[in-house]
Amino acid sequence: MEKTFLMVKPDGVQRNLIGEIVRRFESKGFQLVGAKLMMVSQELAEKHYGEHKDKPFFGELVSFITSGPVFAMVWQGENIIAQARKMMGATNPAEAAPGTIRGDFGVQVSQNIIHGSDSPESAEREIALFFNESDLISYEKMI
Ligand code: CMP
Repeated sequence: MEKTFLMVKPDGVQRNLIGEIVRRFESKGFQLVGAKLMMVSQELAEKHYGEHKDKPFFGELVSFITSGPVFAMVWQGENIIAQARKMMGATNPAEAAPGTIRGDFGVQVSQNIIHGSDSPESAEREIALFFNESDLISYEKMI
């Protein structure tokens, strides 16, 4: 089953959106396989956002993601990487369609509520950065 890494960013946590975001993915029919409320260290932030290290906003990105607790999650379901990106909406909340998470709750691109993996390769990399294999539930074995 396809897995993705989703993270409610510090702005989403501060605005009490964890429950609303979890509800949307649960209601859609996806399964939560791991979750934790945590602070992101400077080292983890730099690794997570490594592909953006040459962008002018890299410093802002790292300082924002380390500024307060995040809610890191792993979800699974059919075609979840693409589906979750649809549910999140465009990266820039100003361009995100109403009905999407960013379209409904965000205003600025630098504080866009939620992060989600953009490909199977980044999902695998990001899940491994934030979670140990033993932190993840394997429902298949329970059924
Ligand atoms: P995210 O999906 O976490 O991945 C990279 C992040 O960079 C993105 O969400 C945005 O929050 C942020 N970002 C993208 N473009 C800009 C920008 N022009 N200025 C500041 N932050 C940006």
